[in-house]
Amino acid sequence: MEGIAIMTSGGDAAGMNPAVKCAVEYTIKKGFKPYLVRNGLRGLIDDKISEATRADVSGILHRGGTVLRSSRSTRFFEYEHRKTAYENLQKRNINKLIIIGGDGSFNALNQFYEDFKVPFAGIPATIDNDIPGTDYCLGVDTALNVIRESVDSIRDTATSFNRAFVIETMGRHCGYLAMTSALSSGAEICIAPELEYDLDSICKRLKEDCANGREYIIAIAAEGTNMAEYLTRWIQMNLDMDTRLTVLGHVQRGGSPTVRDRIMAYKFAVAAVDSLAAGNTNEIMIYKEGEFTGMPVHEVAGSKYKIDPDLIKLSAHLGK
Ligand code: F6P
Repeated sequence: MEGIAIMTSGGDAAGMNPAVKCAVEYTIKKGFKPYLVRNGLRGLIDDKISEATRADVSGILHRGGTVLRSSRSTRFFEYEHRKTAYENLQKRNINKLIIIGGDGSFNALNQFYEDFKVPFAGIPATIDNDIPGTDYCLGVDTALNVIRESVDSIRDTATSFNRAFVIETMGRHCGYLAMTSALSSGAEICIAPELEYDLDSICKRLKEDCANGREYIIAIAAEGTNMAEYLTRWIQMNLDMDTRLTVLGHVQRGGSPTVRDRIMAYKFAVAAVDSLAAGNTNEIMIYKEGEFTGMPVHEVAGSKYKIDPDLIKLSAHLGK
């Protein structure tokens, strides 16, 4: 029986575990033999591959992170290590792969496909939500809910004092988490890579607000802008308000996947198995305008992620 190996790679994201569970169960249903690869790309090289049963993936659906573990392997860039990985697959008759991760992982498997013609299907997973072609990546909703809960808690303390709070969200190059969180938590300021900002006009607006009774300020800054510390000092000096900084960091990456992440994980996993069963060789599953389809990996790699323009319109006033 033909084998399909399932793995997670790159930064972990909530939703990876339900995707693994569904991929294993649906692989069996479609008449293939499922395998699990532990430790991401590193595990392919180190032969951390084992046949999977339903029992292996029971009780994992509600867990954050990835039970298969992950890695950012540099060895996979080298042909000789990729060849070892190929031999590990060949000896088990595994000739298809499902990888749950980000675009770096997809590109690595595409190189592997070019070398050895092992077809793969990619499932986008990153809390940054910045993989080109798809409107949604696994982990985003869970991260947004963790951020929302944190900002709501900070607001409780903010309202008890005359204070400003700057909260840094993750997002290496992308302001999706920052903008969505700023809107959903009613922040007064948002600094994100895609958003224009003007500190003079923010200063004027908030001075007027404070003169009219505003007693605290919540500001959200995306990690990728490197502005959180500066903004904290700036608010303190320019708005004469005691200011604190909270860097949420990896707290946002953990946590039990939300209902949305669980259901999206199932749908992505079914799409990935179906894509391989249909004979597609190197497609990334995308969710676009409510539909799940596949997009050739070179199109994903060749395009630039574009953030939802409505999000920018809705957030624009938070930078002025
Ligand atoms: O890409 C997801 C992400 O969480 C980014 O938001 C963040 O910049 C990065 O990963 C952190 O990476 P690491 O876990 O390797 O520190």
